[in-house]
Amino acid sequence: MASDPKPSFSFLFFLLLSVQPLIFCLSTDAPSPPTVCIVGSGIGGSSVAHFLRHYFHPTPSQPNPPNIIIFERRSVVGGRMATVPIGGETFEAGASILHPKNYHAVNYSKLLGLKVKPPPASEDDDSMSLGFWDGKEFVFKSLEVDSKIPWVQKIVSYYNSLRLFVRYRFSLLKMSSFVESTVDSFLKYYESPETRPVFETVDEMLKWAGLYNLTTRTLQDELVHLKISPLMIDELVTVITRINYGQSVSISGLAGAVSLAGSGGGLWAIEGGNYQMAAGLIKSSNVSLHLNEEIESISYLGEYYELNSTKGNSYSCNVTVVATPLDEVNIQFTPSVSIPARKLQHTHATFVRGILNPAYFGLRSVGEIPELVGTLEDPDIPFSSISVLKQQDENDITYKVFSREPMTDALLGSIFSARLETVRINWGAYPHYKAPEVFAPYILDGQHLYYVNAFENAASTMETSAVAAENIARLILSRYFSEAHPHSSNLKSKSPDAHTLHADL
Ligand SMILES: Cc1cc2nc3c(=O)[nH]c(=O)nc-3n(C[C@H](O)[C@H](O)[C@H](O)COP(=O)(O)OP(=O)(O)OC[C@H]3O[C@@H](n4cnc5c(N)ncnc54)[C@H](O)[C@@H]3O)c2cc1C
Ligand SMILES: *[C@@H]1O[C@H](CO)[C@@H](O)[C@H](O)[C@H]1NC(C)=O
Ligand SMILES: *[C@@H]1O[C@H](CO)[C@@H](O)[C@H](O)[C@H]1NC(C)=O
Ligand SMILES: *[C@@H]1O[C@H](CO)[C@@H](O)[C@H](O)[C@H]1NC(C)=O
Ligand SMILES: *[C@@H]1O[C@H](CO)[C@@H](O)[C@H](O)[C@H]1NC(C)=O
Ligand SMILES: *[C@@H]1O[C@H](CO)[C@@H](O)[C@H](O)[C@H]1NC(C)=O
Repeated sequence: MASDPKPSFSFLFFLLLSVQPLIFCLSTDAPSPPTVCIVGSGIGGSSVAHFLRHYFHPTPSQPNPPNIIIFERRSVVGGRMATVPIGGETFEAGASILHPKNYHAVNYSKLLGLKVKPPPASEDDDSMSLGFWDGKEFVFKSLEVDSKIPWVQKIVSYYNSLRLFVRYRFSLLKMSSFVESTVDSFLKYYESPETRPVFETVDEMLKWAGLYNLTTRTLQDELVHLKISPLMIDELVTVITRINYGQSVSISGLAGAVSLAGSGGGLWAIEGGNYQMAAGLIKSSNVSLHLNEEIESISYLGEYYELNSTKGNSYSCNVTVVATPLDEVNIQFTPSVSIPARKLQHTHATFVRGILNPAYFGLRSVGEIPELVGTLEDPDIPFSSISVLKQQDENDITYKVFSREPMTDALLGSIFSARLETVRINWGAYPHYKAPEVFAPYILDGQHLYYVNAFENAASTMETSAVAAENIARLILSRYFSEAHPHSSNLKSKSPDAHTLHADL
């Protein structure tokens, strides 16, 4: 019988086909890269992605960098960093100012090549006039001299500082040293990761920096304790907490100090919008970004989490990071997670292009109205602040109004004498602060479900989100990607017997 070569060819072919999957199996015998899923594309979520990439080093047990997926329910990234277009220009609608010592933000802007600028209408601006409105009159009004000559501006600025000093005396100095020492404590979070611990709880993180006590009493109590005058607490300090957190001096001492720090010198912003920090970090961190995709459930299935979205998609994630406040979102957790009840303070940001009505303020001309109108704590005052964002010309000015309640047309009609354009944004802005604060856990389930915004009860800023995110990234790397046993530190930290076991040894 003549042998037919055909069968052997097909046999070979068959063999190749069956071997290939075998080779594939062998080559993936090393663990496949784990998937880290992040819910929220604000500065918190994007910073977690950035620091996961930055700190990741291959280990024998985890040789591959993780896949990172970010889910964002909106069509744009940035969350509470967002711009609003008014009259052909864009302005910050949410987070607008950065402090000179916001070092993560400083590094982001350098790394991403973003241009920085001074923010509009900051208290820092020497030429900007400031007034404290009590509902009937301006109890304090800085002198404004419309001069382009720098030395005239400087003299006016000194004169205004002197007026503030005459009014508040040494309370001003006591306040700045309170703010400075709080900022100094906060700087500990920038110490080298080699000497800086990874924190499993917010309490532990705050205690390490010496900031925890400030969350146990109100700003008011703290300032009274520091012998700061009641006049200054009721005026200057209240004006600032109302602008920055829409709340009174009954916020915690820490949130208060952070808010006061945001009224000092050297403030800055990203030209074109602070949201570009999140956009840039996401781009540079090789993230798979899913816009317009809201996560509605997170279920722990033993080896991994199953995230279901409103698009009907299902994702398997080995690590899940919640980078949004959980207070007003509807995510169903299985098993359920328990976090302390927290209310969000809503801030209504109303942008108006038009002109204020001087009569509303008992004044004769628009020029007499300060460019930044701050307010005292009085339920009858229907807004927290009004500031000039840009003056197009004499009768065409772009303003930003912050209020706790929506600004109705009738109300705007009495405050403004003309309105060309009005844009309203209702922000679930930041926690409604109280003292003592109670913190949600960073690790929601004792496994690999993390919560960045647990730190927001300490203070809510772009930088504090970045600081919390950096800690979460390190927590993930140490608990999930640690060389020895991916789950060991988890057992060590969560087992109630950990300490007794140590004692036995
Ligand atoms: C009016 C206002 C003014 C402020 N001013 C300043 C300031 O001057 N300086 C400063 O530093 N800070 C300021 N802040 C605070 C600052 O904006 C926040 O602290 C910070 O931006 C929070 O970032 P985040 O990433 O933690 O949360 P967010 O920015 O809120 O990001 C969360 C993201 O998650 C998304 N999301 C929520 N649920 C889901 C879901 N189920 N699925 C998918 N996506 C979801 C949201 O759409 C959002 O994009 C201000 C805030 C407001 C509102
Ligand atoms: C980016 O991530 C994808 C999967 O998430 C991976 O396949 C790819 O190799 C990564 N690219 C780089 C440059 O790291
Ligand atoms: C900022 O970047 C510099 C240079 O890369 C680095 O030395 C510094 O530690 C960074 N700061 C923070 C807060 O990460
Ligand atoms: C915080 O308060 C506690 C209890 O009152 C006190 O023992 C501790 O020294 C305080 N810590 C700091 C850093 O002030
Ligand atoms: C990671 O998740 C996948 C599912 O996507 C799962 O098969 C795998 O076992 C998980 N890895 C570990 C180490 O738990
Ligand atoms: C998520 O989706 C999967 C697949 O469609 C489904 O089996 C599962 O029940 C869903 N989980 C929840 C909590 O809805």
